[in-house]
Amino acid sequence: MKNIAVIGAGTMGNGIAHTFAQSGFKVQLIDISQQALDKGLATITKNLDRMVSKEKITEADKAETLSNITCTTDIKEGVEYAGLVVEAATENTELKLKIFKQLDEVCAEGTILATNTSSISITQIAAVTNRPEMVIGMHFMNPVPIMKLVEIIRGYNTTDEVTQTIMDLSKQLNKIPVEVNDYPGFVANRILMPMINESIETLYNGVAGVSEIDTVMKLGMAHPMGPLQLADFIGLDVCLSILEVMYNGFKNPKYAPCPLLVNMVRAGKLGVKSGEGFYDYSESRKAEKVAKQFA
Ligand SMILES: NC(=O)c1ccc[n+]([C@@H]2O[C@H](COP(=O)([O-])OP(=O)(O)OC[C@H]3O[C@@H](n4cnc5c(N)ncnc54)[C@H](O)[C@@H]3O)[C@@H](O)[C@H]2O)c1
Repeated sequence: MKNIAVIGAGTMGNGIAHTFAQSGFKVQLIDISQQALDKGLATITKNLDRMVSKEKITEADKAETLSNITCTTDIKEGVEYAGLVVEAATENTELKLKIFKQLDEVCAEGTILATNTSSISITQIAAVTNRPEMVIGMHFMNPVPIMKLVEIIRGYNTTDEVTQTIMDLSKQLNKIPVEVNDYPGFVANRILMPMINESIETLYNGVAGVSEIDTVMKLGMAHPMGPLQLADFIGLDVCLSILEVMYNGFKNPKYAPCPLLVNMVRAGKLGVKSGEGFYDYSESRKAEKVAKQFA
């Protein structure tokens, strides 16, 4: 399998395209927005430049990686030769169901369809296709070129063969794949989101302040970043939506989003991307400095 198509050129899509291209795969990067494609390619170039300046790759590696990527807004054209499509479009159930229906129609019979969804059921997505046994979750972590883990999620009908192909492919990307089953939150978010929610609840109950909570978890538990700061990086709206999926999926009050989280999202305080969450990122230099710390 040498040809990969990636749907969505946003935060995750451009990182996934970068990672495949750097490992020698030919990548078609597809987005409905030309602006998103331009921005995605600029991000990939900037990230490769950083790797060159850190002497992790050479100028020739950078040029080869970029030559492996082609951008298009035409989904049909983009997936024509793909052995695997990795969908990383906006996290919205209706949108993903629509994309997978279309992918099933336009992709070749043997093409494996993967989704990078953080929380939507793989089995539900697979059910709108005529190839549910060939639909799988490939949950990369942000930032994709750096983070080692890929959570591989088997839908109810995903075959052993397809799972093995995707596990092997992830290893070719120099990643560590971990196989899990398709239940709300999978493994990563099922464990991470209750911790983030409990941190917000701790703040809401007035037990301690933002930096105190983060410092306890950083210095006491050796976490590289406090949970409230991590929530700011993930996006508070994204945290809320994943908690809602788990709350509705398990019908268990332990996943109920903290009222403070709900209020902050309603008030547009979404974290780094909106300039303010638990921390203030309003001065662009300050946000950049914080982001660099974790790059
Ligand atoms: N951001 C994270 O930290 C993170 C981590 C793991 C998984 N994810 C998952 O990855 C996926 C993408 O998230 P993101 O943060 O990159 O989002 P994003 O908003 O940065 O990018 C989404 C992109 O999808 C494009 N898009 C929307 N509809 C499309 C369509 N019909 N066809 C093609 N492109 C379309 C948009 O134009 C945009 O460029 C989501 O499912 C999300 O849950 C995100």
